[in-house]
Amino acid sequence: MAKPVSDSEKTPQHVAIIMDGNGRWAKQHKLPRLSGHEAGRKSVKKVVQAAIAHGVRYLTLYAFSVENWQRPREEVQGLMGLLRLVLREELAEMGREGVRLRAIGRLHDLPEAVREELESAIEKTRANTKLDLILALSYGSRVEITEAVKAIAQHVKTGQLDPESIDEKTLTDHLYTRGIPDPDLLIRTSGEMRVSNFMLWQISYAEIHVTPVLWPDFGKEQFAEALADYARRERRFGGV
Ligand code: IPE
Ligand code: IPE
Ligand code: MG
Repeated sequence: MAKPVSDSEKTPQHVAIIMDGNGRWAKQHKLPRLSGHEAGRKSVKKVVQAAIAHGVRYLTLYAFSVENWQRPREEVQGLMGLLRLVLREELAEMGREGVRLRAIGRLHDLPEAVREELESAIEKTRANTKLDLILALSYGSRVEITEAVKAIAQHVKTGQLDPESIDEKTLTDHLYTRGIPDPDLLIRTSGEMRVSNFMLWQISYAEIHVTPVLWPDFGKEQFAEALADYARRERRFGGV
């Protein structure tokens, strides 16, 4: 029997989503791939609203990976254009809903115009406290960890840090996600059973929910379903 999602103790504080399947959705509908990404935009809106309704505090969305730069130029440009448009058009709504926008990833890789729009939205929503919406953009977990290690090594080199004092928190504090609790629930749409270089350190003990539903078909019901699945899990963290 499914436990009700209203059980607040069983509501994940942080949900992370690998939004996959836009291309396959477009193919199913005999549309160009970019139409799939455009359709995925509605799912983002629905999921943000659902997360707020369920009392989720952090929502991380994997929107563009470091590996995604290898896609055809046309698709990359289309995605960047869409991102810029969404940031601009959704800003007022984020304000109304109490959403604080944040971003993780190699943000300096993004085209100037996108970065400006992103930084402006981050700045303008900084005081909102209902939901932290964290966009993973040009994000790669291995590069994130590598950069963290490099920064830590620098601190050791300059004598600010004793190597003996390095612990898990040292690393955690040097990741893009510093200050953000680890995801409790990781959702991947479109049925792929892989993590694709996403938050490898942070998902150590996340519960994983994979649904065959393609991202543009994912909405409030599917989100509630994932939360219900999570509520039924017994998290043991290695204990008994
Ligand atoms: C996810 O959908 C969106 C991004 C990676 C930007 P895909 O574009 O990967 O869709 P599929 O996997 O080809 O169906
Ligand atoms: C992962 O999806 C990245 C995002 C959802 C942004 P991909 O479609 O790029 O991942 P693979 O290629 O299936 O591993
Ligand atoms: Mg994909």
